[in-house]
Amino acid sequence: MTLSSKSYLVIGSTGKTGRRVYSKLKALGLNVKGATRNGEVHFNWQSPETWSASLIGVDALYLTYYPDLAIPRAPDDIAKFCALAKIKGVEHITLLSGRGEPAAQICEEIVQTSGLNYTIVRASWFNQNFSEGMFGDFIKRGTIALPVGGVTEPFIDVDDICDVVVASLTNDKHNGQMYEVTGPELLSFSQLAETFSQVLERAISFKQITPSEFVQSLQANHVDTDAIAMLSYLFTEVLDGRNAFVADGVHRALGRPPKTFHAFVTANRSVFR
Ligand SMILES: NC(=O)c1ccc[n+]([C@@H]2O[C@H](COP(=O)([O-])OP(=O)(O)OC[C@H]3O[C@@H](n4cnc5c(N)ncnc54)[C@H](OP(=O)(O)O)[C@@H]3O)[C@@H](O)[C@H]2O)c1
Repeated sequence: MTLSSKSYLVIGSTGKTGRRVYSKLKALGLNVKGATRNGEVHFNWQSPETWSASLIGVDALYLTYYPDLAIPRAPDDIAKFCALAKIKGVEHITLLSGRGEPAAQICEEIVQTSGLNYTIVRASWFNQNFSEGMFGDFIKRGTIALPVGGVTEPFIDVDDICDVVVASLTNDKHNGQMYEVTGPELLSFSQLAETFSQVLERAISFKQITPSEFVQSLQANHVDTDAIAMLSYLFTEVLDGRNAFVADGVHRALGRPPKTFHAFVTANRSVFR
């Protein structure tokens, strides 16, 4: 089958990575559809009856799970979804996974043993959490307030993740690969704040708060209980230094280095004004 005769499906096609993967596949002239709760293909992780129809005629798909592969029901959902994909004749799945989450690694294994061609893209925390996600208000207010100390994380630009995902969907040489993708440098939240201050030419500070102050701030912003539990798990358990190393997935998949955090803030200056 040639690339142009294949049909692609992007699950979560309005999300940070899904939106870009969808556009990049479109820009290559490929036949791609996007699936979300209100998208051109109706898909809801909480309504398994929507899964089967979404897979009709699909050859390759980009699988993002929501809210996170670490939630208790994720392995069961991923196992059922992969089995369905196999029945429907899907040939390849590229799974977006997260680093340092044992439950996400169980989901990776489910995809790896599904009998389908696969690529795993295991990503560090996204730069775009600051421009399109939960950290955006911190930059507006001038203080990054989180329950973390000096721990470092190799934040990655989602454009890099998406280039790896698109490569995996369009070139068989990425079959069976697990790409651990990170940015090129380890940065503490205090160093991230310094980068923002330097590039935006206004003071952005970092403040370590307690886990209970963090929960209170989320409650004050009407974040729902499940999301609070997930975020607390990510900040108080996963962000403990276990991911404080850079990995070479971007370079291995694409033959080029990942973008720096400084380049991300510079390119998004107007978003942070
Ligand atoms: N953010 C990070 O730093 C990071 C790092 C590593 C891995 N990840 C992984 O990336 C994935 C996406 O996380 P994200 O927070 O960045 O979100 P996101 O991809 O920016 O947005 C979520 C996407 O999923 C869709 N969606 C939401 N609820 C859904 C449901 N019940 N059924 C089907 N689709 C649904 C949304 O569209 P609709 O709302 O229109 O349905 C949207 O397209 C997660 O699995 C996360 O673990 C994230």
